[in-house]
Amino acid sequence: MSELQVDLTHAGVPSAELQSHAASLGKALAALDETPAGDFLRIVHSPAVLREIRACAKRRPPGVTDVVQLGIGGSSLGAQALCTALLPSRHNQFVRRPGLRFHFPDNIDPDSFAALLRGLHPKRTLVHVVSKSGGTLETQAQLHALLEWFTHEGRRFPLRQNLVVTTGPDGSLREFAEREGLSILHLPEHVPGRYSVFTASGLLVPALCGVPVGRILKGAREMEARCRQDSMLGPAGQLAALHFLQDREQGRSIHVELIYADALLLLGAWFRQLWAESLGKKKRGPTPVVARGTTDQHSQLQLYMEGPDDKLYTFLCVDRFRSRVRISKRATPASLAGRDLGDIFAAEARGTQQALLERGRPLIEIRLPRVSPEAVGGLLLLQQLQTALAGALYGVDPFTQPGVEAGKRAALDILAG
Ligand code: PA5
Repeated sequence: MSELQVDLTHAGVPSAELQSHAASLGKALAALDETPAGDFLRIVHSPAVLREIRACAKRRPPGVTDVVQLGIGGSSLGAQALCTALLPSRHNQFVRRPGLRFHFPDNIDPDSFAALLRGLHPKRTLVHVVSKSGGTLETQAQLHALLEWFTHEGRRFPLRQNLVVTTGPDGSLREFAEREGLSILHLPEHVPGRYSVFTASGLLVPALCGVPVGRILKGAREMEARCRQDSMLGPAGQLAALHFLQDREQGRSIHVELIYADALLLLGAWFRQLWAESLGKKKRGPTPVVARGTTDQHSQLQLYMEGPDDKLYTFLCVDRFRSRVRISKRATPASLAGRDLGDIFAAEARGTQQALLERGRPLIEIRLPRVSPEAVGGLLLLQQLQTALAGALYGVDPFTQPGVEAGKRAALDILAG
């Protein structure tokens, strides 16, 4: 058990006020439990998901050195976040065979895509294509650019062996995969990309690179149980109510997550997408911002201290890092001498919190004892449930993305001339 701590002492909303939302939150959870929308919670209990991922990881073709996940948005961010959180820093630089390097183009910029291809060898590359709908323009473009690259290299693309597809129950990607006889992993029909981190979409590449994905799911199940234990639905309900009240009653509609652990930075990008795409509807919804501690103290902090009081801050911190980096005993100022970089990092986070509080800016603190698979799984589950519950408070459906779909259709029309 890896207890993640959520401290709301300085969050600016009295607990009695939060409690007044307990009934609505209970109703929202009951609705999730009774409708397909709650599948994102049920998948963490499904042994079939883990079985499918492990079986696929075992069939990894011999000689493979690199794995590329094609996909965008919810079909890319979760796996990226897990790889960077749970594999050693600069994994790709230091990994030795039989370990795999991971790559997430996550875009269609021709310069970065070409550079990625230059560093790969067709025979030694495993490609995982993820698209729930199967019709996303960027993912299709990435896939067919990659197939073209194989052809140009003068080799027959060994499709069956080196290409794995994760997709929903229908769509053109499934048709392509079936026609080519590829391995297909399944995305549940009612789970949108941003809630799919606990499926093959989020877990296959981490599993291939050596992350113990069963422990991520264990942490997620523990967090779910914790959230179901009390009338406020634990930290998920409290955070949903708190963000909602700060936004709607105190005008703090910008939610800044300051992350003091580089390993967790992409978890911030993942949550930003989840929060924005789920809640930004009907002219409502908070604006999520991610900041890197301490780097962005030298970029945005002045605004946070003395700019408009329209923000709620969340500090995401870690108690114990994997590495210790000792500072010389002769260092000046003397307060640095003999210290560990982790001590300085913690003091900077604490100092920034204090300074914000002195200016009356509200903040939340989330602490992970360390960046373990259980703690990360718990955090992901917490943030997904918090988002789904916030949807109920805002009166929006957190499982649709009509704005994103409109953009996809418009781009297709432009290409069609
Ligand atoms: O969370 C979402 O629903 C979106 O961000 C999608 O993941 C993204 O648009 C990609 O869609 P698809 O998985 O259908 O290719």
